[in-house]
Amino acid sequence: MDKKSYEIKMVSKGIWAVNEYQMDYMYIVEGAERSLVIDTGTGTGNFKSVVESITDKPYDVVCTHNHVDHCGGIGQFEKIYIHGADIPALTKGNGLDGTISVFNRRRYSARGFAVNPEGSLPFTLDSFEPVDTSGIKFAEISEGFVFDLGGRSLEVFEMPGHSLGCICLLDRENRILFAGDSISKILILPLDMPDRERIGMWLGGAEKILSLRPFYDTIYTGHICPAPVELFLDQIELARRAINGSLKEEFLQADEFKGMLYHYGQAYFTLREENLKTRDYRRILNPEKY
Ligand SMILES: [Fe+2]
Repeated sequence: MDKKSYEIKMVSKGIWAVNEYQMDYMYIVEGAERSLVIDTGTGTGNFKSVVESITDKPYDVVCTHNHVDHCGGIGQFEKIYIHGADIPALTKGNGLDGTISVFNRRRYSARGFAVNPEGSLPFTLDSFEPVDTSGIKFAEISEGFVFDLGGRSLEVFEMPGHSLGCICLLDRENRILFAGDSISKILILPLDMPDRERIGMWLGGAEKILSLRPFYDTIYTGHICPAPVELFLDQIELARRAINGSLKEEFLQADEFKGMLYHYGQAYFTLREENLKTRDYRRILNPEKY
């Protein structure tokens, strides 16, 4: 069987979305002088060669947050821009014990095996190599940092909740918001703090991003390309209602999650650790079976 390659499509002028085996999206944004790579995927294939086949401009690489499906490929690059709050989890044990450990990359990549035909992927669970993060230069970014690509610029906005260092990037010239996983059909809020604080932390950033609504029409996320603005509005309403107590968790199934979830409109929030531990990606294909 032919091995799949990354699916690449131009989604807006000068923006390519790279789909990594239906697990996640990375984006390459090209300006007149430089390009910006947003996220690196799980690092299952040679993503760097994909980047260099798309753009011949000098480029920087930024990660929207430190999770395995966004930072798994950072070992292919010399320098990574990322929020400072998300660096320690990446560098724990020089990467071996951190969020992009081989164990975590294998576990997450079960999603790829669940949604692609057996044997079609150019990797196996045994082919993941450890990423030694001691050789990577991390450049800390925070609110207000601007990537100037020449003729287009992307401004960093902090939106903690899904991780402490989650960021969004706003391309005002082209009216596009890159939201990482902060806008998501099933938003995972895994931080160790009381539920209302977790939701409140996310909502604080979300209200700020909502206030920028006059400056974007299109939202590209780590898993939805493009994401409907209505999903973001449903997430905000969910968060407001959960905080004021008018919305309660229910026992539900949404894709790979089954358990106590918040649900409003198109949006789900998962806060229970057991939902994360027991997630089963096969449910994405056959939800009725579970
Ligand atoms: Fe994530």
